[in-house]
Amino acid sequence: MKRVLITGAAGGIGRSLRETLRGVYPILRLSDRVALAPARDGEEVDCTELADMAAVERMVAGVDGIIHLGGISGENDWPVILEGNIIGLYNVFEAARQAGVARIVFATSNHAVGFYPRAQKIDHRVVPRPDSRYGVSKAFGEALASLYSDKHGMAVLCTRIGNFGSRPIDRRRLSIWISPRDYTQLVRIGLEHPDIRYEIVYGVSRNQRSWYDNSNAERLGYRPQDDSEPYAEEVRAAEAGAPPADPIAERYQGGTFCAAEYTARPRRA
Ligand SMILES: NC(=O)c1ccc[n+]([C@@H]2O[C@H](COP(=O)([O-])OP(=O)(O)OC[C@H]3O[C@@H](n4cnc5c(N)ncnc54)[C@H](O)[C@@H]3O)[C@@H](O)[C@H]2O)c1
Repeated sequence: MKRVLITGAAGGIGRSLRETLRGVYPILRLSDRVALAPARDGEEVDCTELADMAAVERMVAGVDGIIHLGGISGENDWPVILEGNIIGLYNVFEAARQAGVARIVFATSNHAVGFYPRAQKIDHRVVPRPDSRYGVSKAFGEALASLYSDKHGMAVLCTRIGNFGSRPIDRRRLSIWISPRDYTQLVRIGLEHPDIRYEIVYGVSRNQRSWYDNSNAERLGYRPQDDSEPYAEEVRAAEAGAPPADPIAERYQGGTFCAAEYTARPRRA
């Protein structure tokens, strides 16, 4: 891996990876549609709208691997999701194929499987149960990645990220949190592991309260360093006295993404 492209590099995860991957690969090409901090040694800065195929072709030229973070990172209206996460994602994979890029690490989401109940531990083999239009777009991304792997031999690691941050911010996040250093480790596996063709793993730390069987990541050598448990008491104290949570949000792994716009209640009752 000589030149690695990060899309969505101006976002929360992109800014973090810009630091943790600094010096790991000779050149990081950092791309977003919004302005980025100026390039330092070993960096290239690029401004690309992912829905613009011609611009995406220029963005991927000469790269060996892609960390695809760019897109809409939460629920939104369908035209917005369509542009960023369906058309934009397709453009990245298709331009990568045309340019002969061998590897993509794709930032998919727990919301691709958000309608699994919290009472059920799930692994990488479960069928998608998206909890939102956003979750559907991530399931689409996983499916497109599978196609490009099977049909074109592209190596893709789909990382179903739980919640990325320096610490877990609420009770749900105690089960799905991933620290920056653990996500960096997972991304490096995606770019460097010799045997990856198409894999789904959960982007979570070594949380005692995890809802995931992440044995596929462990099989690929993932050894997370962080656990949310030391933050559990702090989270409990912060949430004490809060109004009761929506029962739909509480029942399912996707939380409030499941409860939003939910209209199935009368039938289920
Ligand atoms: N942060 C998390 O906990 C988390 C959890 C699950 C999945 N993810 C996924 O990881 C990725 C990165 O997450 P994040 O938290 O850094 O998100 P973010 O919203 O902070 O960053 C996303 C970046 O993508 C850029 N972008 C959006 N649409 C674009 C377009 N059409 N063309 C070019 N750039 C575009 C935005 O400008 C932004 O800088 C996202 O794909 C998100 O869905 C994140």
